[in-house]
Amino acid sequence: MKVMLVGGGGREHAIIRKLRENPEIEELYALPGNAGMDQDAVCVPIGAKDIDAITAFAREHAVDYAVVAPDDPLVLGCVDALEAIGVPCFGPRANAAIIEGSKVFSKNLMRKYGIPTAQYETFDDMDAALRYLETAPIPTVVKADGLALGKGVIIAQTREEAVTAVREMMADRKFGKSGERIVIEEFLEGPEVSVLSFTDGETVVPMVSSMDHKRSGDNDTGLNTGGMGTVAPNPYYTPAVAAECMERIFLPTIRAMKAEGRPFKGCLYFGLMLTADGPRVIEYNCRFGDPETQVVLPLLESDLLTIMRATTDGTLAGTEVRFSDRHACCVIMASKGYPVAYEKGFPMDIPADVFPHVYVAGAARRDGRLVTNGGRVLGCTAVADSLGEAIRDAYAMVERIHFENAYYRHDIGARAMRALTED
Ligand code: AMP
Ligand code: GLY
Repeated sequence: MKVMLVGGGGREHAIIRKLRENPEIEELYALPGNAGMDQDAVCVPIGAKDIDAITAFAREHAVDYAVVAPDDPLVLGCVDALEAIGVPCFGPRANAAIIEGSKVFSKNLMRKYGIPTAQYETFDDMDAALRYLETAPIPTVVKADGLALGKGVIIAQTREEAVTAVREMMADRKFGKSGERIVIEEFLEGPEVSVLSFTDGETVVPMVSSMDHKRSGDNDTGLNTGGMGTVAPNPYYTPAVAAECMERIFLPTIRAMKAEGRPFKGCLYFGLMLTADGPRVIEYNCRFGDPETQVVLPLLESDLLTIMRATTDGTLAGTEVRFSDRHACCVIMASKGYPVAYEKGFPMDIPADVFPHVYVAGAARRDGRLVTNGGRVLGCTAVADSLGEAIRDAYAMVERIHFENAYYRHDIGARAMRALTED
């Protein structure tokens, strides 16, 4: 069987490693992939947003199944285009990927179907948004409607900050068309949980929960990033919370999308906040999270390709999805200066016994050697019987990897450890 994966970061490396466990796969292509995964897949220099080139490649190489991992191609209709030439896919069509592609859409969906989320207003007129801010409760949260590389969310601690955010999005077009419309919403507090789920449009099967660490600095200081590390499971996500989320959030969302004529197939990511008033949806993503995938998939005991195909075929209800009860920790090593400005091209030294636990996010090859080629460079994942051991083992691997300007957080998993010991 020939399988093609669209995308090229650490998440994609984790998906590829897991897919590789299935012996039916003879050829595995990554478009574009990156040099750090070229031992696990054939990397093809086609960009993840180049839908025409992706479909042409799939046709030319008689690809049997495609996995579309990143948000951009999903929102742009990559799955629709591949299905149109007869290639079955893992991932939602564009009309369902809009659940991530438009925050106005997702907020209105939640309001219509009574799914718990922050109170909000939407605006396509800047003056109306500024008038609303004159009396809005502070802190408040300003969000660009469309995709913005994870930077389109501003937590405003003062009225002035909120006004600046609105002006930057709507007048200065800091995020281009993504800021044509905005959402202004209630500021919520509580631990955050990421729950990725498999769904075929009818059945939803949550994966093991996880906790991301989004800020660049230790103790959650500094700028928001794509994610500096993760642990799974998330200790705040107790069986009681899980049951409540299933009943009030997961199933209602799947049913709502179906009722809207937008059945969602693939991985639906629920970004949740556990507030004093119960779980609330902070965001939906139409794809696997990065770096959540790097802790979730190593704990998956069932065959990933079989599950993915079941989401495509609508047979998820009869398919085994089993996770181990162990713990995982992923520490991201980034280039110093990420997420703002950083240098790349530094040779990477990764011991051979560590490499199988490394998911490479940004690397190129120069004279046969891997060199850094991105903000997030790689993630080290350890799996162990306890969270404490997983954290210790992940950092032990990090200590053995060297490249110039390497930067990482030292407290991945610390909050989860505190939650466990406070119980
Ligand atoms: P998002 O890009 O939607 O994941 O938002 C980025 C981060 O902003 C989230 O992970 C939260 O930490 C924070 N955030 C988003 N919405 C809210 C909210 N309504 N209240 C408090 N924090 C929020
Ligand atoms: N780690 C957060 C995301 O993938 O959106």
